Amino acid sequence: MAPATVQRKKVCVTGSGGFIASWIVKLLLDRGYTVHGTVRNLDESKNRHLREMDGASDRLVLYKVDLLDIESLRSAIKGCDGVFHTASPVTDDPELMVQPAVEGTRNVMRAAAEAGVRRVVFTSSIGAVTMDPKRGDDVVVDESCWSDLDFCIQTKNWYCYGKAVAEQAAWELARNLGVDLVVVNPVVVIGPLLQPTVNASVAHVLKYLDGSVKTYANAVQAYVHVHDAADAHIRVYEAPAAAGRYLCAESVLHREDVVRMLAKFFPDYPLPTKCSDEVNPKKKAYRFSNEKLKELGMEFTPVAQALYDTVRSLQDKALLPLLIS
Ligand SMILES: NC(=O)c1ccc[n+]([C@@H]2O[C@H](COP(=O)([O-])OP(=O)(O)OC[C@H]3O[C@@H](n4cnc5c(N)ncnc54)[C@H](OP(=O)(O)O)[C@@H]3O)[C@@H](O)[C@H]2O)c1
Repeated sequence: MAPATVQRKKVCVTGSGGFIASWIVKLLLDRGYTVHGTVRNLDESKNRHLREMDGASDRLVLYKVDLLDIESLRSAIKGCDGVFHTASPVTDDPELMVQPAVEGTRNVMRAAAEAGVRRVVFTSSIGAVTMDPKRGDDVVVDESCWSDLDFCIQTKNWYCYGKAVAEQAAWELARNLGVDLVVVNPVVVIGPLLQPTVNASVAHVLKYLDGSVKTYANAVQAYVHVHDAADAHIRVYEAPAAAGRYLCAESVLHREDVVRMLAKFFPDYPLPTKCSDEVNPKKKAYRFSNEKLKELGMEFTPVAQALYDTVRSLQDKALLPLLIS
């Protein structure tokens, strides 16, 4: 973690009970911040993991907020020095994805501008970066890359579409309302869960271990450890000179590499050994740059460790049976 550069103040984290946001809340509390966490459901069972964090009893206040209800956002953001806007649907259902992601982001930006916050950090996605069929194999994927919205629509990739449009809306409102915005674009985030249930990116690993898939796809994907994803958000919030987008990625792996790494650590699970596509050439990993975050002092956790930590966490939470031969 970078040395402290700002006075610890009050910040708001939207969707604070989610996979990445729970880690952001934990690291913020560890660093002495007071956190206004937004949740859609104030039930004790959903939020116990937040309330039990070190520092939470004195410095965490939970607010019931829906992204489409700006009044609820105003009450959570009022009095805050900064906002981490992490809440978003994570789905390919266009009805559930696009409007809450885009209009919700507009509402956060408006409420943040009214409250006069110092900076908003928006959790965008690799989905707003790489969905471009025109990108050549030699291109190094970095913060200058944007997904092609027409391609997202043609391929019905509504998650990537929603995230890209939401990020564009955030930049537009930042300009119009004079808000200091910094964006983190994480790739697939894996690692230990703090929340009680499995989110979509951890389910991506779980499906290889619980026997629910018999083959792996001929596909590549970039990965990052959830601790690093949360750390990146705090670094870009605290560094006065941070600006623009930050691609948050450690490695790009083919699915074959993922199942091989899992099999090395956890050989007793029914991991697939065959690719579902035996016809086409094996997809190649794309080149990427994470230099911008490294310039802020980030040291990325190796992906093998991230995969190991994900499985151990699923076992510890009894979300995956412990198999030991
Ligand atoms: N995990 C990844 O691999 C990954 C990669 C790149 C970017 N991201 C981005 O990171 C962010 C967090 O993702 P995650 O993986 O941590 O997912 P997650 O665990 O599913 O968390 C999403 C959070 O958003 C909240 N939310 C959804 N719709 C909402 C609405 N209408 N109003 C208020 N809150 C709402 C959810 O609340 P409930 O708990 O009430 O459902 C949940 O707390 C998202 O913006 C996602 O696009 C994730």
